[in-house]
Amino acid sequence: MWDRLWIDVSLATDACGTGRPGGDDFGAIRDGAIAAKDGVIAWVGSRSDLPAEPASLAVDVISCHGQWMTTGLVDPHTHLVFGGDRSGEFAERLQGVSYQDIARRGGGILSTVRATRAASEEELLRVTLGRVRRLIENGATTIEIKSGYGLTTEEELKQLRVARAVGRHLPVRVHTTFLGAHALPPEFAGRQADYVTHLCEDMIPAVAEAGLADSVDAFCETIAFKPVEIERIFETARSFGLPLRLHADQMSDLQGSHLAARWHALSADHVEYANEESVRAMAEAGTVAMLLPGAFWFVREEKLPPVALFRKHGVPMGLATDCNPGTSPILTPTGVMNMACILFRLTPGEALAGHTHIAAKALGLAETAGRLRPGMAADMVLWDVAGPHELSYWIGGVKPSARIFAGIPD
Ligand code: NIG
Ligand code: FE
Repeated sequence: MWDRLWIDVSLATDACGTGRPGGDDFGAIRDGAIAAKDGVIAWVGSRSDLPAEPASLAVDVISCHGQWMTTGLVDPHTHLVFGGDRSGEFAERLQGVSYQDIARRGGGILSTVRATRAASEEELLRVTLGRVRRLIENGATTIEIKSGYGLTTEEELKQLRVARAVGRHLPVRVHTTFLGAHALPPEFAGRQADYVTHLCEDMIPAVAEAGLADSVDAFCETIAFKPVEIERIFETARSFGLPLRLHADQMSDLQGSHLAARWHALSADHVEYANEESVRAMAEAGTVAMLLPGAFWFVREEKLPPVALFRKHGVPMGLATDCNPGTSPILTPTGVMNMACILFRLTPGEALAGHTHIAAKALGLAETAGRLRPGMAADMVLWDVAGPHELSYWIGGVKPSARIFAGIPD
């Protein structure tokens, strides 16, 4: 006997995205049925193929009134644990001051570092839960959360504890990422090599020991860390068995995506400036190209990510909000899907794949989440839309009519 069975539903079981508008049927099953038992999808198919009458198959039978159901959305790149406010910087940037200029004079990430250090763990948890609630209301069931605004062992651990706590307070799967190599902390001004040594000898071991990080990330950029420094960080992280990911080629081509691929990172994120050689290396390594159209839009980036090359070489394209106070204040995955279609010319199928199973792959959860398939987590979302393509249609995104986490409706 199943716990729950949903009927009168159209299922989008598997968006794949063919790179052709209208070329994806979203694995659609009209008049479908889907069952959950013990938090896992137990059966998916056409209602007419159900082995018996619904009422005899499940404790609970739920009619979805003909709505569309997708797997829960996955947000695989966020910086949700932060204190303070950067809207003043936004106003400055509108007057023509660049993100890099603000960073160089100690604003930007470092201003959020000051505010995050000043906030208590309770306060950080309170504001973070508020942000995660918004993602949940918008259909997310799995999210990644990075540290990176503490930049000392204790402050980074504080952020990671808050990130872990989110999954105990709210119905959402959380993957945590240590991003100690986000910016040079003020204590190490002029001594970047020493900070990298501190990261490798003290911080990563402490984070690994505490079991608070599911992966390690770094910011590879002219205003952040150089490729040789990233190599040291990756080597250390790998020695602790931690998966890797990288903020790569966002504002310049430092061949960060190539570096990420060489280290078999789960994803290279941003990747606007990635060149074809890097794209080829990503394809070989199975590294996901994590596109972040919110940041592209918010910093008024003009260099488009090489979407045609990702398609040509078969690199999976993921999508994430990159929610952070400096470059991507957005908590609406379907709004990100709209931006990806309009700004990067993804198809609605590619956009849904990007925020579901490709995003799950980038979190090492390809077997757990991101598809409506037996054996996967029963994380599902109902949408009152004409079809799955409508999820990418509304500017600012469309809200789910219901959400199910681990087989349990919210
Ligand atoms: O993903 N690129 C670096 N990190 C963030 C920005 C963080 C911030 O400005 O606070 C990003 O865009
Ligand atoms: Fe980021």
